[in-house]
Amino acid sequence: MKIRVINGPNLNMLGIREPQIYGSTRYSDLVDMIEEHAKKTGIEVEVLQSNHEGDLVDMIQECYGKIDAIVINPGAYTHTSVAILDAAKAVALPMIEVHISDVSSREEFRQVSYIRAACMETISGHGLNGYLEAIDHLAAALKEG
Ligand code: DQA
Repeated sequence: MKIRVINGPNLNMLGIREPQIYGSTRYSDLVDMIEEHAKKTGIEVEVLQSNHEGDLVDMIQECYGKIDAIVINPGAYTHTSVAILDAAKAVALPMIEVHISDVSSREEFRQVSYIRAACMETISGHGLNGYLEAIDHLAAALKEG
């Protein structure tokens, strides 16, 4: 079972950016955390990040025929990107949207999520653990068929 984790803009700044919202764990530690969890669960995982919308579209398209499921945190593109939504719909793979912070209790402009329409679930406000939960939920869904 192969899962790709895709992170959008500014997530590479984890641990530095607004620690009161996103915590003090570095992005590289998040990657380690996800890789360790996947190993324990017997899942092959790839963790990718880009600050560029088109790169995120490419990262989703590349999953077609190659990857079983996607965990995505599109960062600010969550609230603006029809292109990322269209890529997700095009590959039509099981996908879970993750947000480290609880977007539902933040600014009005964060209440819109384009990607949500292509996702089986949204995990928001569970911190970095949300990525691990998403992997577990996808693995369970794939096993159920
Ligand atoms: C975020 C929430 C977004 O609104 C924000 O633009 C981010 C991170 C989160 O993980 O909580 O960059 O996706």
